[in-house]
Amino acid sequence: AELLVLNGPNLNLLGAREPQHYGRTTLAEINDRLARQAQAAGHRATFFQSNAEHELVERVQQAAAAGVAFIIINPAAFTHTSVALRDALAATGIPFIEVHLSNVHAREPFRRHSYFSDLAAGVISGLGAQGYELALAAVIEKLKTQDP
Ligand code: DQA
Repeated sequence: AELLVLNGPNLNLLGAREPQHYGRTTLAEINDRLARQAQAAGHRATFFQSNAEHELVERVQQAAAAGVAFIIINPAAFTHTSVALRDALAATGIPFIEVHLSNVHAREPFRRHSYFSDLAAGVISGLGAQGYELALAAVIEKLKTQDP
């Protein structure tokens, strides 16, 4: 199946950005692992990162037309602010898993609220870069039971 991995603002800086929160792994390294993990399971993952809310909204809208079966998304700071990105995901109806590298519940109080979690198939927070791989493993399992 077709899978989409979305990353929000400042995640292009992974590796160098506040490593005490986000680790030393770059987004390119994360995406490379996910691409191989998806391919090994017979799926195809595409990747998109943007610092711009409207670009993420448009990418989600396109995902429906592109027949994307599952989305893995780290909305980054938009987690706590973006009704628009939430609405885009709700509009497509494509199931998604929300991933955060850091444990958002162990940080500033404003990070505890997510505009996405109640719509998400699941949420992974605090497991670093491995969180994306765990999300993809879950997606792969879900797609097995969904396939006819
Ligand atoms: C984040 C957590 C957010 O609160 C923050 O704004 C980010 C990254 C994470 O992956 O831990 O940019 O989504």
